[in-house]
Amino acid sequence: MFLTFAGLSNAVAQQQSSGTAPVGSAPGVSKDGVAPGATAGADPATGGGDAAAIAAGDALFKNNCAQCHAVNDVVVGPALKDITKRRPISWLIPWIKNSSKVVASGDEYAVKLFNQYQKQQMPSFQLSDAEITSIISYISAESGKGSTADQGGVTAGNVNATDGKDAAADDTAGAGQYVNVLLIVLVVVLIVLVVTLVIIANIMKDVLRGRKDLDGRDVELMEQRFDYSKIYKSNIVRGLAVTVFTLAILYESVQAAMGVGLTQGYQPTQPIAFSHKLHAGTNQINCSYCHTSVYKSKSANIPSANICMNCHSQIKTESPEIRKIYRAIEKKQPIQWVRIHNLPDLAYFNHSQHTQVGGIECQTCHGPIQNMEVVYQYSALTMGWCINCHRETPLNTKGNGYYNNLVKLHDKANSAAPFTVSSNGGTECSKCHY
Ligand code: HEC
Ligand code: HEC
Ligand code: HEC
Ligand code: HEC
Ligand code: HEC
Ligand code: HEC
Repeated sequence: MFLTFAGLSNAVAQQQSSGTAPVGSAPGVSKDGVAPGATAGADPATGGGDAAAIAAGDALFKNNCAQCHAVNDVVVGPALKDITKRRPISWLIPWIKNSSKVVASGDEYAVKLFNQYQKQQMPSFQLSDAEITSIISYISAESGKGSTADQGGVTAGNVNATDGKDAAADDTAGAGQYVNVLLIVLVVVLIVLVVTLVIIANIMKDVLRGRKDLDGRDVELMEQRFDYSKIYKSNIVRGLAVTVFTLAILYESVQAAMGVGLTQGYQPTQPIAFSHKLHAGTNQINCSYCHTSVYKSKSANIPSANICMNCHSQIKTESPEIRKIYRAIEKKQPIQWVRIHNLPDLAYFNHSQHTQVGGIECQTCHGPIQNMEVVYQYSALTMGWCINCHRETPLNTKGNGYYNNLVKLHDKANSAAPFTVSSNGGTECSKCHY
């Protein structure tokens, strides 16, 4: 009985709604599912050295450079503080675009630096001159601030941002646990109450037995034994027991049936012991450094062995796990990673729509990947999961011209309700089903 209650409270906390979707639509929505405004934000800051350029540089730096560089600390590459005092812009631009070309050209400074950093190659970047200038204005602005405490603040801020997400995700689980604890406390209190009552009854009987002035009826009443067999012979109790038992079984089977085909928690062993914790966590390599298409296209690609070689041509070359990468390249065969997330073909899911346009963090859907030694499927990936989020999440319309008119129309019609994905038609069947 108690277990059933605990189960039910869990189910309530998880809110695994898989109900039918109401069809809400706004006029003028594109039906083709192409990421609207997918290019928004890719606009390079056109120089200027002002606050906008610094902000753009900040974002570009975090996305492209932060896994190897900090302004005030040596990470994989040198600290970039006061870089403009060391090197002129005319040197920095070709260097960032293709550093190995500068090294190969025999540039004295470059060769010395390259050797100093154990001949570790900095990757090439397809950034425009304006984008590079904005990165440099950002670095200069940060150099001005100076103190290492400041720098620590930047990285710590990053970590906290993801932690905050985890905490938010944990919140719902926390609510479920809270209800469970409450139930356990209630049961304990009940048991204590019953025991206390039994003790009190016994004490009173002992007191009564000591009295001489009781007549026969009183004694009979006092010595009366409770007939337990009456309880389970009673039809009402039997009926109740059968009902509760049937309901519990029914509930469990419905839960089990809902789980058919679900692969939440799936965690296969991979052919190479690649750790996201080590790469994305400890070494802070950006997700899109390896999953290069995640902000640009429908699917997030799995990196080819070449991307591993950017670093592992130098790092841990003797490790047996890294040797597996070399062997794959020699044999010209791709590494056979085991796929973890896989929606059925009938559903359409687009990464860039969610990461670039929607601005949703990877961790919202994939969990704390940066803490996983081996990746597992964090979310249920059911239709209910997709739709719940579409009902609750307001559209990320800031700075996205595509949405301007829609927002105006929505505000005119219904200014109180937030403009969610579903008010934009995100729960229409055809958006997700071909
Ligand atoms: C995968 C690691 C990695 C990434 C990512 C990376 N760098 Fe580097 N960077 C290095 C290394 C290592 C060096 C040292 C030179 C060498 O070994 O080639 C370096 C050197 C530099 C230098 C010269 C520093 C000096 O003291 O003269 C600059 C400037 C620089 N990087 C800027 C950038 C910028 C800007 C980005 C982002 C667009 C970036 N780097 C991304 C690894 C990286
Ligand atoms: C150094 C490269 C690298 C970085 C950085 C990296 N990944 Fe990966 N990722 C891989 C490789 C290789 C695989 C395939 C092997 C595996 O599943 O562990 C993978 C697999 C995954 C998968 C499972 C794909 C499937 O099969 O369904 C997810 C999800 C994922 N990564 C998300 C992330 C996120 C989020 C980040 C950033 C926090 C990130 N990755 C950073 C290389 C990387
Ligand atoms: C941006 C640099 C970078 C890239 C790209 C990269 N790694 Fe690494 N990798 C590292 C660093 C740094 C370590 C930690 C080395 C250490 O512990 O000293 C590491 C460690 C490892 C280890 C553990 C080796 C051991 O024996 O301890 C494995 C396995 C590994 N990487 C696999 C991969 C694979 C597979 C890829 C490509 C999908 C990849 N790495 C891409 C930087 C990188
Ligand atoms: C809104 C939820 C959501 C967000 C945000 C999200 N993903 Fe995914 N991811 C999915 C789903 C769903 C799949 C399964 C797609 C399929 O099977 O077609 C998936 C699959 C993947 C895969 C396996 C390859 C593929 O495309 O099927 C990788 C790798 C991956 N995601 C990485 C990332 C990274 C890195 C980020 C952040 C930049 C990210 N994801 C953000 C939901 C999400
Ligand atoms: C964490 C929240 C979240 C989850 C989970 C999620 N989505 Fe979304 N989805 C969004 C947001 C936010 C947008 C709107 C992005 C934009 O256009 O600004 C969106 C947009 C879409 C669109 C485009 C809708 C339109 O109006 O054009 C499709 C299609 C879509 N999602 C499919 C899916 C599928 C399929 C799944 C489940 C596998 C899923 N989503 C899971 C948040 C989510
Ligand atoms: C936000 C995206 C989204 C919307 C909107 C959506 N679905 Fe789904 N639907 C999915 C996903 C993802 C799956 C696969 C779930 C799984 O594998 O458990 C699915 C699965 C299904 C299935 C089960 C197919 C099977 O073989 O298991 C049916 C039926 C279905 N959807 C019908 C609908 C109908 C009808 C609507 C409109 C009222 C609708 N869907 C709207 C994402 C969506």
